[in-house]
Amino acid sequence: MKSTIAENFGGPSHSLANPEHQFSLDDCPDLTGKVAIVTGGSEGIGYGCTHTLLSHNVSKVFVLSLSQEVADGATKSISEDLGAEAAQNLTWMKCDVSEWQAVAKAAEQIGSKTDRIDIMILNAGRGIMTYQLTDYGVDRHMAVNHFGHVILASHLMPIMKKTAEKGNTVRIVTLGSNAHQACPSDCGFESLEELNQDLGPNGQYGRSKLAQMLYVKYLNKHLTEGTEPKILANTVHPGFVHTKMSQDDIHEPYPILGFGMSVGMAPFKKDQWQGCVSAVFAATKTEKSGEYICPPAIPEPGSKLFQDEQLAENLMTLTKKVVKEKMYAESIGKGCPMEFY
Ligand SMILES: NC(=O)c1ccc[n+]([C@@H]2O[C@H](COP(=O)([O-])OP(=O)(O)OC[C@H]3O[C@@H](n4cnc5c(N)ncnc54)[C@H](OP(=O)(O)O)[C@@H]3O)[C@@H](O)[C@H]2O)c1
Repeated sequence: MKSTIAENFGGPSHSLANPEHQFSLDDCPDLTGKVAIVTGGSEGIGYGCTHTLLSHNVSKVFVLSLSQEVADGATKSISEDLGAEAAQNLTWMKCDVSEWQAVAKAAEQIGSKTDRIDIMILNAGRGIMTYQLTDYGVDRHMAVNHFGHVILASHLMPIMKKTAEKGNTVRIVTLGSNAHQACPSDCGFESLEELNQDLGPNGQYGRSKLAQMLYVKYLNKHLTEGTEPKILANTVHPGFVHTKMSQDDIHEPYPILGFGMSVGMAPFKKDQWQGCVSAVFAATKTEKSGEYICPPAIPEPGSKLFQDEQLAENLMTLTKKVVKEKMYAESIGKGCPMEFY
């Protein structure tokens, strides 16, 4: 019960966690010399991560998101809070993670600007919203939350490996959610037709969060436990956090009922600083891999589907197939090896 409150709600809730699962943003280590990427790092939980990394002296953080206006606001706030030098260490790149070709280009640009990547926080997300297909015919929740992030991480994997091979610990983090439990139990990740079924806003979101979580399970098995023990991959639940997603976007599928979450639950939500604690722990401190970490730093088993290793394999086999089909001319046809690890 105490853990459930700590994991999900705001206020002094984190103090309820057991001593061995405590972590606060002040415990973030010094990050001098390190380079980070945060998708969706200009707003909400992602901004909490960006700000914390910069306040702990990260040398460079690349933020990928959509809105120039929001990014300018984030840079201004960093400058006011942490000084002009910290703001200069933030590089914003406009990139819609659902546009896979743009993601590959962004990865290329990042690769031309850094020879190391120590931290990758795959945080940008489409929340609990109605079903949509992208113009290339893939469920938008999966296209943003899962596929785009896999493409980004895969393109930058050689740099992460190089960083790890020089003796550094590299940490990859995906933003899962306890909402992964809303994924229907018959989910098999067998085909694009299956992915493109409309499961309703909660099911659609829950399935994409499950995918982000299974991706780190897959990376842990093949990468960390394979040839790269110094690249750690973990997924986190941030809690129930007061952000645009839980405040505004929730009204898209639920114009009236959404007020239950946006207004009714407002006093119980975490703010973005509490909401980024588990992600910062996974991105800077943990020495473990393949875990599902809830706030402040509580490892949880997750759902039965999350524990299913074969499902992780199915997901990534399907991921490769779909990307190959949809991006052949732009990518694989031009020699991209499309390796995940
Ligand atoms: N809030 C919660 O209670 C909660 C609970 C569980 C999990 N999460 C997860 O936490 C993560 C962050 O959510 P949040 O609550 O902080 O949401 P948020 O405040 O709405 O922030 C989302 C961020 O993602 C960016 N983004 C959205 N779609 C994008 C796209 N297609 N391409 C590139 N960037 C995109 C947004 O960019 P712009 O600002 O430029 O639009 C924004 O920076 C998500 O993965 C979410 O699923 C949140």
